[in-house]
Amino acid sequence: MTENIDSYIEEVESFNSGNQDEIEQFRIKFLSKKGIISTLFTQLKDVPADQKKEFGQRLNLLKNKATDKVKILKEQSVSSAQEPVVDDLTSPPEPLPLGTRHPVSIVRNEIIDIFSKIGFTISEGPEIEDDWHVFSGLNFPDEHPARDMQDTFFIEKNPDILLRTHTSSVQIRVMENEKPPIRKIFPGRVFRNEVISARAHCIFHQVEGLYIDKNVSFADLKQTLLFFAKEMFGENTQIRLRPAFFPFTEPSAEMDVSCTICKGKGCNVCKYTGFLEILGCGMVDPNVLESSDISSVEYTGFAFGMGIERVAMLKYHINDLRLFFENDTRFLNQFKGDIT
Ligand code: DAH
Repeated sequence: MTENIDSYIEEVESFNSGNQDEIEQFRIKFLSKKGIISTLFTQLKDVPADQKKEFGQRLNLLKNKATDKVKILKEQSVSSAQEPVVDDLTSPPEPLPLGTRHPVSIVRNEIIDIFSKIGFTISEGPEIEDDWHVFSGLNFPDEHPARDMQDTFFIEKNPDILLRTHTSSVQIRVMENEKPPIRKIFPGRVFRNEVISARAHCIFHQVEGLYIDKNVSFADLKQTLLFFAKEMFGENTQIRLRPAFFPFTEPSAEMDVSCTICKGKGCNVCKYTGFLEILGCGMVDPNVLESSDISSVEYTGFAFGMGIERVAMLKYHINDLRLFFENDTRFLNQFKGDIT
């Protein structure tokens, strides 16, 4: 009778599988209630007395071997399922997704590079400002509409603490602390209480420029801005200055560049004018110089201010300002080649 058991022992010893279903089949066959081993145990009572001992020992051996085998194979199949399957050790690793520089940063850096070529250095000022630096020091009359809640985010009233609505505020900060000659640009973030649309946002970025020295003229302003326009938009770019009004410059102008799309021929982007507005500028108003303790007899200066998003829109032909703030990677990834 024990030969029978021995052949089962052999079968158990030689069984091998990494497949969980096969291991389960094996367990059922040998170790379940109606399996081979418990059937053999029920036969024990019929075994002749002189063979009982050996039969019992062989049967226990079979049971232990089968139990161990199931335990080991189950453990192995679980741990191998957790191990990653490595097919080809020479294949390259998964590439790490690389970030890209934001188009506003790209254009800001480009503006900084262009002006640094002609001797402008950078200063920055606070985003939370007082009335003096944003309005009064810049010659805004008390009743000027820009001071209105409609345009300005106030943090406190009396004395007024507010989010700066333009980077012109840094002009005042710099003039307080430095004596001419001053030749600087001020990049930064500004805030206006605007309804968000394709053309306006409540947060955007500007670069302000200020040049104060003896004998600075409007011709210097024009040459500086022409140089900027050609560097930014290409050698054949033309500029056009239209008279305008700003409280802090006199005379003031708005500058247009020849349309970046039709090159001045006329298209629907430039509304068939051939030009696109890009910045405000002018000669620093003597009141502004004097209120910062700079002699308007000895010194003159020019200032200009432009929106970075606006320059980026013209450069990359983007028609919705909101795209800059949504951080949709499908939009941002298009600027991959432009890391500067
Ligand atoms: N601060 C103006 C604005 O936010 C832009 C500007 C216009 C700045 C004329 C200047 C300037 O320095 O001279 O709309």
